[in-house]
Parts: sequence; structure tokens; C-alpha cells
Amino acid sequence: MDDKLKQEMMSYYDERAQEYDEIYIGKGPAIPGSAAYKNDVTKISEMISAFGRGHLIDIGCGTGFWLPHYARNCSRITLIEQSENMLSECRRRVDKFGLKGKCHFL
Ligand SMILES: C[S@@+](CC[C@H](N)C(=O)[O-])C[C@H]1O[C@@H](n2cnc3c(N)ncnc32)[C@H](O)[C@@H]1O
Repeated sequence: MDDKLKQEMMSYYDERAQEYDEIYIGKGPAIPGSAAYKNDVTKISEMISAFGRGHLIDIGCGTGFWLPHYARNCSRITLIEQSENMLSECRRRVDKFGLKGKCHFL
């Protein structure tokens, strides 16, 4: 990936952070059938609830959308994200679900 493309991708996530999770409820201009994403989220959430243990490292964690589903399986979670805005959304989620004690941000 060339530097310009990489920079564009990084900026994309930073600019979309506040609306990023809408994709998971089937919203957004690029989503043709909203039911598909909702169905996927239901199934993936079930799978993830059995995923992870010990110290988990979530690379490119984004807003931490999946975090509440795997967090109870882990003793410690390191959340790595290049976008400050995505990481801000993730921090909010960590607070909301009372996970501050086990989460570390990079
Ligand atoms: C497709 S999104 C997925 C976000 C989240 N894992 C989810 O499933 O909702 C990819 C994420 O990886 C992050 N990312 C991409 N390259 C990265 C890098 N080199 N270091 C840290 N984060 C990165 C982006 O900023 C973006 O938030």
C-alpha cells in the first residue's frame, strides 16, 4: 500500500468514527440490505462471546464494538487503534460497560 493510500485510509476512520457503528445496525449509504448486517451482528456476537481468554490484544479495535461480547472472558485487554477519534469512541464504550479496570489503550 502506498503512503498516500495508507494516509487516506487512516483519515477515513478518523473522520467516520462517530458514525462508524451505524454499519452494525444496517445504516449507511453503502448498505444495500439492512437485515444482513443485523443478522451478522447477532451471529458474530454469539461466536465472540465464546472467544478470548487471558490477556487479549485487539489490534485495530475501532470503536470497540465487539468488546462487550468478549470482555468477560479476558483478564486484561489491550486495545490498539491508530485513530484518536475511534479510540475516543472506544473509551466511551469501556466506561459504559464498566471495563476500565481491565482495559489498556495504545
Ligand atoms: C475495518 S475497521 C474495524 C474496527 C473494529 N475492529 C470492528 O470490527 O468494528 C479497522 C480498524 O483498524 C484500524 N487500523 C488500521 N490500521 C491500523 C494500524 N496500523 N494500527 C492501528 N490501528 C489500525 C483503523 O483505524 C480502523 O479503526
